Amino acid sequence: MSPAECTVAVIVVAAGSGVRLGQQRPKAFVELVGLTLLERAVSTLALLSEPVQVVVAAPSGHEQFARDIADRALGSSANAVSAVTGGVTRHESVLAALAALEPGVTTVLVHDAARCLTPVEVVERVIADVRESGQGVVPGLPVTDTIKVISGSLNSGGTVTSTVDRSSLLAVQTPQGFPRRDLESAYQAARTADYTDDAGVFTGAGFIVRTCAGDERSFKITTPADLARAQGLLLGVDGARVRVGMATDTHAFAENTGLRLAGLDWPDERALAGHSDGDAVAHAIVDALLVAAGLGDIGGMVGVDDPQYAGASGEVFVREAVRRLAEAGFTPVNVTAQIVGNRPRFAGRRDKAERVLSSWVGAPVTLSATTTDGLGLTGEGRGISVVATALVELFAPTSN
Ligand code: CTP
Ligand code: MG
Repeated sequence: MSPAECTVAVIVVAAGSGVRLGQQRPKAFVELVGLTLLERAVSTLALLSEPVQVVVAAPSGHEQFARDIADRALGSSANAVSAVTGGVTRHESVLAALAALEPGVTTVLVHDAARCLTPVEVVERVIADVRESGQGVVPGLPVTDTIKVISGSLNSGGTVTSTVDRSSLLAVQTPQGFPRRDLESAYQAARTADYTDDAGVFTGAGFIVRTCAGDERSFKITTPADLARAQGLLLGVDGARVRVGMATDTHAFAENTGLRLAGLDWPDERALAGHSDGDAVAHAIVDALLVAAGLGDIGGMVGVDDPQYAGASGEVFVREAVRRLAEAGFTPVNVTAQIVGNRPRFAGRRDKAERVLSSWVGAPVTLSATTTDGLGLTGEGRGISVVATALVELFAPTSN
């Protein structure tokens, strides 16, 4: 799909200065565990099931920098990326971005870069609800604090006037989604730029906004305490940013020839028995990746035992494992595997296998092979074992 064919655009507003966070740079460029807030917010959009147009509203003078970050975050996905100069208020930043929408876009989401840990499921939900209802959609959470109306000023003698019935309150988040035409006309009709969100502009123009479930992780990073909370969520209680996984896989030889191993075909070697293509190297790598990220193992991957996966290529499983890692915020750093068996003679094709497997994983995969002095099932020539290790990192900054 070419960028012009995207029907969904996501405006990422990132033009604020971050006064309350109090750092030396605009908030969107502040780092959270090695990646800027903008890069984290945009990288979630690469996980959507369809390509989208991404328009970043950037602080003046930082447009190219923001565009480069967004490009990197979207990786090789087929999304279209641009950056516009944001305005003095959030409202003006959205207005500037609206002018950059591709002609084919019919649904527009507006998302705060500052809500950079929003899960992709929320984004998918908003898109689906806008399409289904043809109305505006805002995600939110119930209010848990008791809310008071006060008169006077908070710090100098203010008094409580009443208590608000919180059962009818919603703390709204982003992304907020709208049919494009209606959002554009609502922005054109807006008489003030004081709105702090887009649903306010939309309802102000008489359009309907529906609600959907938000997520705790979609909180807005506003103060240093919010940044610390986000760090805690990413790093977990142990604070580890890199994690290692290891796994083994063993398959017996079948009667027929036609081996698949390490992503290569070995037509004259005996095949390995197995439900899928029997590529024990690919399977061990999948388990090592998944366990490193605490995501279980290949048996827990939906559909692996499905008849549709009978004979499935190891590539399908490796790519699915890498996708699951990305969803959980992890990226592979490197992978190693050791093949234990008498055959095939591996040395001559090591480079090629490493290239193939590295392209699946998106990180270096290096391989070694050994025999066991005639001992055990591999030594007796009854099958092949593979040991794999994987190092994964919480969304590491890319090197370019
Ligand atoms: N935003 C924007 N243009 C502005 C102001 C805000 O694009 N002129 C964006 C911010 O970058 C942020 C989102 O709107 O992603 C929510 O705003 P807020 O959390 O208030 O961010 P800042 O305005 O940067 O922070 P502060 O108010 O503390 O300065
Ligand atoms: Mg602000």
